[in-house]
Amino acid sequence: MAHTHGPIMILWLGTQPTVIASTAEAAMEILKTNDRICSGRHIRMSFRLKHHIKYSLVWSDCTDYWKLLRKIARTEIFSPKMLLAQSHVREQKVGELVEYLRSKEGQVVKLTQFVFGTLLNILGNVVFSRDVFVYTDDDGNKDGIQNLIREMLMIGAEPNIAEFYPILEELDLQGLKRKCDERFLRVMKLWKGTVNERKENRNEESKDMLDVLLANDFNDAQINALFLETFGPGSETSSATIEWVMSELIKNPKEMAKNHNFELNKIQASSFKSSDSNYSYKLDKQIFSKTRAQ
Ligand code: HEM
Repeated sequence: MAHTHGPIMILWLGTQPTVIASTAEAAMEILKTNDRICSGRHIRMSFRLKHHIKYSLVWSDCTDYWKLLRKIARTEIFSPKMLLAQSHVREQKVGELVEYLRSKEGQVVKLTQFVFGTLLNILGNVVFSRDVFVYTDDDGNKDGIQNLIREMLMIGAEPNIAEFYPILEELDLQGLKRKCDERFLRVMKLWKGTVNERKENRNEESKDMLDVLLANDFNDAQINALFLETFGPGSETSSATIEWVMSELIKNPKEMAKNHNFELNKIQASSFKSSDSNYSYKLDKQIFSKTRAQ
């Protein structure tokens, strides 16, 4: 098609134009040269929930509100000081995962589920200093954040006729927006009590994201949107990456053994401090470059 129509084409999907760049130069033109005007994100119809989208960080255009959120995230929530102050929690949560896996020695374990859960607990502590996942073999997490987030992502990814004919958006013929909204309302209920409690008993110094947002006079809708957008993008991405690294290492027993003997012994010998971000960076880099090289 590119031979006939050139390196940049427009494909009409229903009433929606979709731009296709088929050469590196054309992609560069869009992603680099004209990045500023092309950087908006298409918001899936199922995610256009009235009480959420207005306050969204992920789906926002480059507005003043988006700039404010980015500034707060950079200077307060994920500032070096805050990351350092919370480092012991990350270490503790990884320790809990290791302990749980150790207790399952010789048994088959669905690693993704527990890695995902560990990440949710790390994020739960960043967000409001609380765990949101329990290590259990039964249905203890059935109505928890993990399932609700997964379901929302699945619903959002489902083909939706309204994407191609936006005039149908309000009709929500497939009920996808309604289903997504229902999950969002359930997810908000999970932290409602914690937010109300904190409003009554404020910490003097900001210790987590909730403290920072309350100190900046954020309302409930803004808080809910940002919590969802920390748990959502923060868990699936990292757990998929860890799963991929683990599967690469399992496929390469030699590399696994090397990492195990060299890096883990080093950690056990307590030369590793969780606050030593430089060491942690080196460890990540080494594992990534090894898995990539296979
Ligand atoms: C391996 C892990 C991760 C990967 C691969 C990943 C990937 C991405 C990518 C590709 C984007 C879009 C960037 C852009 O359009 O310029 C993004 C945005 C975002 N990510 Fe991640 N991410 C990861 C981890 C996380 C974590 C841990 C969090 C939260 C704690 C997070 C929160 C976000 C948010 C809020 C945005 C939207 C930012 C904005 O639009 O201003 N991500 N991520």
